[in-house]
Amino acid sequence: MEKISVKVCTGTTCFVMGGANLQELNDIIPKKYGDKVEVLPSNCLGLCSINWEYSKAPYVKVNDEVVSEATVEKVLEEINKQIAHNL
Ligand code: FES
Repeated sequence: MEKISVKVCTGTTCFVMGGANLQELNDIIPKKYGDKVEVLPSNCLGLCSINWEYSKAPYVKVNDEVVSEATVEKVLEEINKQIAHNL
């Protein structure tokens, strides 16, 4: 199975809109998934500027899947979904 990559946006918009809490993923993911999933910080993913007024920051990308208004729970859910899908 290919590694799942989790890109946590650390751009200003996402960070201010709650992305700071997502830093927890750096601890949780390796403990929970070992080397099956890698967490990578990422500069602005370009998603926040599409429609600022209705921005759904913070954004996280799990492989190609965008998680908007991301929380730790939502990201873990998406990872679990993709793992189940890959089995
Ligand atoms: S700051 Fe996160 S998508 Fe732009």
